[in-house]
Amino acid sequence: MIDKIKNIIRQELEVNLSSHYGESINVVVEEPKSSNLGDISIPVFSIVKTVRKPLNEVADTVVEKIQELEVRELFKEINRVGGFINLTLNRLAFSKKVIDNYFVNGLSVEQVGKEKTIVIDYSSPNIAKPFSVGHLRSTIIGHSIGNILEKLGYQVVRINHLGDFGTQFGKIIYAYLNFGDKQKVEENPIEELVKLYVEFHELAKENPILEDKAREIFKELEQGNPEYQKLWEHFREVSLAEYMKVYEMLNVHFDSYNGEAFYNDKMQAVVDELKVKGLLKKDEGAMIVDLGNDMPPALIQKSDGSTLYITRDLAALFYRKNTYHFDEVLYVVGNEQKLHFEQLKAVVRKMGYGFYQDIHHINFGLVLQDGKKMSTRKGKIVKLEDVLVEASNLSLDYINEKNPCLVNKEEIARKIGVSAIIFNDLKNYRTNDVEFDLQEMVNFVGQTGPYLQYTSVRISSVLEENNFSNSELMYDLLVQDHSFDLIKTIAQYEEILNKAKEEYSPSVLAKYLLNLASYFNSFYAKEKIMVDDLKERNTKLCLISIIRNILDEGMNLLGMQVIRKM
Ligand code: ARG
Repeated sequence: MIDKIKNIIRQELEVNLSSHYGESINVVVEEPKSSNLGDISIPVFSIVKTVRKPLNEVADTVVEKIQELEVRELFKEINRVGGFINLTLNRLAFSKKVIDNYFVNGLSVEQVGKEKTIVIDYSSPNIAKPFSVGHLRSTIIGHSIGNILEKLGYQVVRINHLGDFGTQFGKIIYAYLNFGDKQKVEENPIEELVKLYVEFHELAKENPILEDKAREIFKELEQGNPEYQKLWEHFREVSLAEYMKVYEMLNVHFDSYNGEAFYNDKMQAVVDELKVKGLLKKDEGAMIVDLGNDMPPALIQKSDGSTLYITRDLAALFYRKNTYHFDEVLYVVGNEQKLHFEQLKAVVRKMGYGFYQDIHHINFGLVLQDGKKMSTRKGKIVKLEDVLVEASNLSLDYINEKNPCLVNKEEIARKIGVSAIIFNDLKNYRTNDVEFDLQEMVNFVGQTGPYLQYTSVRISSVLEENNFSNSELMYDLLVQDHSFDLIKTIAQYEEILNKAKEEYSPSVLAKYLLNLASYFNSFYAKEKIMVDDLKERNTKLCLISIIRNILDEGMNLLGMQVIRKM
């Protein structure tokens, strides 16, 4: 709300001052360097420069114009300090405005995304390979960005661009047909398919002819050989079934599972267009798009005619543009694919499409365990499903210790455990690496998911026992520091959501929720809620119910499932 007020002041002052001076004036409205100077600050130097009048005279005029504004009533003091005019909020008026606004609008926010569509490409694991921790990050971040965008009114299309295409399928099919065990693949699809893939490589080392065989099989698969097609479909299906277990636990869903294979018949059109536009160059038999000195060329077609990852991404991009008419497309993929997405953008730009500017690579850092890159690939495969289960078990231990009779405790523990992992990821700015320490993230104290859940449950239990009405409130209760911190934080909610969108980073929201929870907890330590005075009690209950609702909605937007009891 402060941002909105700042905007109103800026716009209205610009109009009034421009007409006063008879020339166009730009006004800057900022936050003062130190909070004891007030809540809003307006520097007048640039206005002085524009109108070429003495500082004192200009400052007096600006103060006079501020006095005439309607939002003036929200401020207690207007002070001039040197070249700055500082405004201090009238806490009573501001608190009333914040609370009244909540009663009228609830937590609804301006629908800035109305009639805009954003496609988000996230998760996107590779068939017949394990779901990596990188895919987990992509899933968590992408899902949350999608939720935040929807809250802001955007139409969101969630796409799981499965890695279900490429020469490795020739190898897997060869291995499966020659030394695979159908039964085993049935029981443990991903583990077995990975084994077959590794085995294939070992054999191919001694017998390079196998590589040719695999290539041959892949070529036939591309051309629609029914036997291979059926196997490929089967591998895709059993892999997807494994991934679905993770998605179900995380409560994540997609609008489309069209993976790379879906674009098999849509790539030729792209290649043709590149050719017509004179962008394709022959390079040792391969086809490339030259991207100048800043970047290596994009390899579009190998010398044997087969296409590449970027070729399929180009086809997917045009398909999405034509199907969804997106305003932006987001690719939630790790830092290591930075060059790939830069090349994708550069090729689209060279093709003459302005929408290259709407392509955003939402990159992210690594997951670290004891400071080292955590991997699900090397050595023993860490199954993410198992990790999620382990987090749930740790939470269950905690409940068994504190509240063993809790009804539905397994379900509650699962929600706490899984949401702890989600929050641990999202509290970090996405490009930073994330430390994966299960013990720490399921802790109820500290900057954790369980701490937020606990705070919400604590408020809920107070609210459950007490009805309150919002008809008679004592707003002057809210002006003390520890209450007004809460009011100001509540007032920031909408700005925080917009900032999270701007940076495509749910961490903005995650950190905000931690702040809100900690302000609440210090408020709760100082104030008794269940006082005899009805008005006072009402006011406090009303305040904490707003906090609880923001915490719950915020957690939901991050993709955490909120619990009511623990
Ligand atoms: N399957 C890829 C991988 O695991 C990620 C795909 C990301 N999306 C895209 N359109 N390229 O590395």
